Amino acid sequence: VEALQKNPKHKGRKGPVVLVIMDGVGYGKYTEGDAVKAALTPNLDRLTAEWPSTKLKAHGTAVGLPDDGDMGNSEVGHNAIGCGRVFAQGAKLVGKSIEEGRIFAGDTWKKLISNVRDKNTTLHFLGLFSDGNVHSNVSHLRAMLTRALDEGVKRARVHILLDGRDVGETSALEYIDPFEEFLSGLNAKGADYRIASGGGRMQITMDRYGANWSMVEKGWHTHVLGEGRRFASAHEAVEILRAETSAIDQDLPPFVIEENGKALGSIEDGDSVIFFNFRGDRALEITAAFEEDDFDKFDRVRRPGVEYAGMMEYDGDMHVPRQYLVPPPSIDRTLGEFLAATRVKQLAVSETQKFGHVTYFFNGNRTGKFDPGTEDYVEIPSDIVPFEDRPWMKAAEITDTVIKALEEGKYDFIRLNYPNGDMVGHTGIYPAVVCAMEALDLQLGRLEKAARKAGATLILTADHGNSDDMFEHSKTGEVIIKENGQPKAKTAHSLNPVPCIIVDFDGKGEYSPTLKEGLGISSLAATSIELLGYLPPSDYDPGVLDWK
Ligand code: 3PG
Ligand code: CO
Repeated sequence: VEALQKNPKHKGRKGPVVLVIMDGVGYGKYTEGDAVKAALTPNLDRLTAEWPSTKLKAHGTAVGLPDDGDMGNSEVGHNAIGCGRVFAQGAKLVGKSIEEGRIFAGDTWKKLISNVRDKNTTLHFLGLFSDGNVHSNVSHLRAMLTRALDEGVKRARVHILLDGRDVGETSALEYIDPFEEFLSGLNAKGADYRIASGGGRMQITMDRYGANWSMVEKGWHTHVLGEGRRFASAHEAVEILRAETSAIDQDLPPFVIEENGKALGSIEDGDSVIFFNFRGDRALEITAAFEEDDFDKFDRVRRPGVEYAGMMEYDGDMHVPRQYLVPPPSIDRTLGEFLAATRVKQLAVSETQKFGHVTYFFNGNRTGKFDPGTEDYVEIPSDIVPFEDRPWMKAAEITDTVIKALEEGKYDFIRLNYPNGDMVGHTGIYPAVVCAMEALDLQLGRLEKAARKAGATLILTADHGNSDDMFEHSKTGEVIIKENGQPKAKTAHSLNPVPCIIVDFDGKGEYSPTLKEGLGISSLAATSIELLGYLPPSDYDPGVLDWK
């Protein structure tokens, strides 16, 4: 891409622009369950009161999802923030591809289907079993099974990762029971289609960014080797495991379905496997276990020779997986690429849990740097602990890194992600979320001080809401109370807007203190560019500033 032109209205700044992504921190709609409001956050409160601010949309069509009932997530959120425009995203692309039949006309689908038909082997589906529309949607799975039967596939096995993180925390049976009925319908037409294994998504298979490979190893044993605790059905497994562990869905232990003393659906030579998640971050590790010849993350014991395909391409640079069903959005001309072309020095910082978000997703699903000469990416290793046990996570260490960078004055544009609001928000444990917000606020105070000293500009914002909406509400707006008298926790993201606070310590009054309203988080790219002293590309969504 070409270098950016100067913003003639910008009078220069002493320090860099710092884009602070407070993951999962939105403006709540309800008072009860809004951990952001409930927490003691004097720094955030003061910054909000003293500096220009507005609310940005971070869900639904504003971030490329099928409709405005879809909550935002960090993949589409960081795409929108880093790319300055809104692209149709996985959920939408796959839905359309199925609707129009393109997925079934593609070579990958045809190859996987004829593989099992020719060899009389099994077609496996593995993925997140909900309609959360963040990583997957069960409606896509149903469409593929229906089609497989039409195309003469006799035997299919489904390996289900229980959600409870993008949907209600104990909603697994609301997906399993109707799905079993759906399978019975297909089986009445001569199919042999069954659920074969499963487990909570935070226990098996769906690790990301190499944070905890042992999860993937457990998943491999469960789905591929058919090893683990045996149950007669998924329904039974969920009921028994819930009673024993009182875990919410995402944390339920793995289970294997058996029949006549044998695992019903281990994965064998000659089978086809479709990983039906469309989102990449939590799909890459299990994909590597299937695809890589030299694999050293764990002992696979047995690696079946299968035709493996992902729903989408999960990594467009490394071309992983080798086969996929639906082409991903092609995202080009990102903020990072323009800044690299303009020789603006960039730093990206987060801890492991969100490191890929602030680099790979931010750069339009692209691995690596645009220009290693002007960019540095810093990953602080995350602890492998339940996040509710340490809600402060690595917020202090992330801040240390940014403060040091501000002191050294090496960078023009710094972006960072504080995962606390999101990662702790997903646990559903309210006091931990309040603590996470207070820990975050302490770090904002430190950041503010260092930014003031450096003459920097802070843009305080988020990729989507989560901690602002921690209780389930009924359609009429009342908090849902459980049998034990406690509010039902909401582990998923919210539909709420997110902050955009412009803390411009060396500002010269070049723009109106009243920011534009009604924009989405894709406006953060143009806003960053303008505050850096350049003009955004003409096809970028408008920035929030009204330049005088
Ligand atoms: C997860 O993967 O943890 C959730 O499904 C979504 O979280 P994120 O979009 O905030 O990463
Ligand atoms: Co999240």
